Amino acid sequence: MITITFITNDGKQATAPDNSNLLRVSLREKGGIPFKCGGGLCGTCKCRIETGIENTDAVKPKERNHLTPDDLAAGFRMACQTFVLGDISVSWVPKAR
Ligand code: FES
Repeated sequence: MITITFITNDGKQATAPDNSNLLRVSLREKGGIPFKCGGGLCGTCKCRIETGIENTDAVKPKERNHLTPDDLAAGFRMACQTFVLGDISVSWVPKAR
């Protein structure tokens, strides 16, 4: 099992099986990562892997449509395209209310 810490949601933690999709875990556990399409198109699920980037899978071509090389170097991913292989913590820019 892996542990995901949702920093922007008061550090809420959730556990999930290895190789879980980050957005799916967020939805199931009310982690709070913003999203719209769930399919790698809208870019809404942009988030930053603050710790454990080495525990995520390879960046997908769809992510490169929304993330610059600087973003990727800084640990940004798109949650709907990211699978988690070990413990991570993740933050994001909250949606305006
Ligand atoms: S939710 Fe639209 S790109 Fe991830």
